[in-house]
Amino acid sequence: MKSTTSSLLAAAAVALVAAGCASTSSASKPSLSIEQIMEDGFKGKESLSARISKGQGNEADFKKMAFLTKELALNKPSKGDLASWTEKTKALQAAAESLAAGKPGALDGFKTAVNCKACHSVHKPD
Ligand code: HEC
Repeated sequence: MKSTTSSLLAAAAVALVAAGCASTSSASKPSLSIEQIMEDGFKGKESLSARISKGQGNEADFKKMAFLTKELALNKPSKGDLASWTEKTKALQAAAESLAAGKPGALDGFKTAVNCKACHSVHKPD
């Protein structure tokens, strides 16, 4: 009885995964706003980005940061030009992906790319 239940559950899980893959994702629409991303990954001394910059990030942190920065790049800032935004957010996304991939020097690259002030001074509305 027990094994029947768990194999049914396994089958259901497989079906769910398959359904998820089949659904078409809209490639260029962000699912999180800039504010949400800032709150979720950047704001405060104990934020995800702060922990990563201190060398305390683990693989799950890097993956989450890669996701958040990808979402960030899909957004459009209400201030500043898009070319500058794309350059900054893509650099950040690439740095987070390098961390997730365990590339050497990735942490230094991330610390350079995650410059709050450099981005806020150009793109954050007053
Ligand atoms: C690539 C650009 C970029 C980087 C890097 C960045 N931010 Fe932001 N951040 C923004 C933009 C744009 C806004 C304004 C969003 C809006 O209100 O439209 C913002 C807003 C915020 C806010 C206000 C969010 C709210 O609740 O309205 C906080 C807090 C914040 N950033 C913290 C940080 C910190 C801390 C860092 C560095 C560790 C950082 N940000 C790095 C672009 C960036």
